[in-house]
Amino acid sequence: MNKAVIPVAGLGTRLLPATKSQPKEMLPVGRKPIVQYIVEELIRMGVEEILFITGPGKTSIENHFGVDHELIQTLREKGKEDLLAELEFDRIPAHYYYTHQRQMLGLGHAVLCARSFVGDESFIVALGDSIIGLNAGSDIVRRMQRCFDEKGCAAVIAFEEVPDNEVHQYGIAQPKTNGEFFELSDIIEKPSLNEAPGNLAVAARYVFTPRIFDALDRTGPGKGGEIQLTDAIRLLIADGEKVCGVRLNGGERRYDIGNLESYFRAFAEFALADEKHGASLREYIATLSKA
Ligand code: G1P
Repeated sequence: MNKAVIPVAGLGTRLLPATKSQPKEMLPVGRKPIVQYIVEELIRMGVEEILFITGPGKTSIENHFGVDHELIQTLREKGKEDLLAELEFDRIPAHYYYTHQRQMLGLGHAVLCARSFVGDESFIVALGDSIIGLNAGSDIVRRMQRCFDEKGCAAVIAFEEVPDNEVHQYGIAQPKTNGEFFELSDIIEKPSLNEAPGNLAVAARYVFTPRIFDALDRTGPGKGGEIQLTDAIRLLIADGEKVCGVRLNGGERRYDIGNLESYFRAFAEFALADEKHGASLREYIATLSKA
């Protein structure tokens, strides 16, 4: 699949004050900003064209993926080859596009902004605040594409099991079949535990045919008064389209940078896994816990 959409328009209010003048997607987790992990994951999956759905105050994302000739020149003149290597990601042969979501009407509305970019091709949606797997080393999107091709789906969604007390924060699946690639008979956005058909939560990666746009056109405001992507997927199922799910496997934790607790945990885990500094950080933390 050649095209991917990364919605990054959210305000990140749960991470204030860190996100007052900087997008949450640009917060570092270990060495890199969150959004760089997501782009690198997509490029490994063969994506060549990436559209960011942005909002006010998100220009640093565009700057991050632009080539900074002045910085490169300065580092070259000073012979800082090691630092130049850190900029290699901006030579990735991908095309980046940016469009503004002009009204904050929800995730479904953000995805609808990608309609003309997508045209009549199938595409991936990767939410800009979730890294999948340590250092984004997951191939969930590849498995989702295999499911999409083998089963002829209108949509494939990544899922992970969450504890009961988190069910109300996610889109929750009602599976119809079992197996590695399972079919859905329903999906509900942020249900209460009583309403929830289970614990399988949408995990920030989707593969769609462009038919999702017709469903989004017909989707009114849902949870929180927003146009929800989950509600459009529900319409696809009601139309008789095949919608499937693929589970993250044991090694593919989802690092959600939506709140401070999960952000701190993700940072700690990535920093502790750092090739150069991880071991000494571990020793340092051990001294802290003794104190
Ligand atoms: C969105 C989706 C939700 C999904 C979650 C994580 O919610 O609406 O269905 O489970 O992302 O992928 P948000 O975290 O933007 O509130």
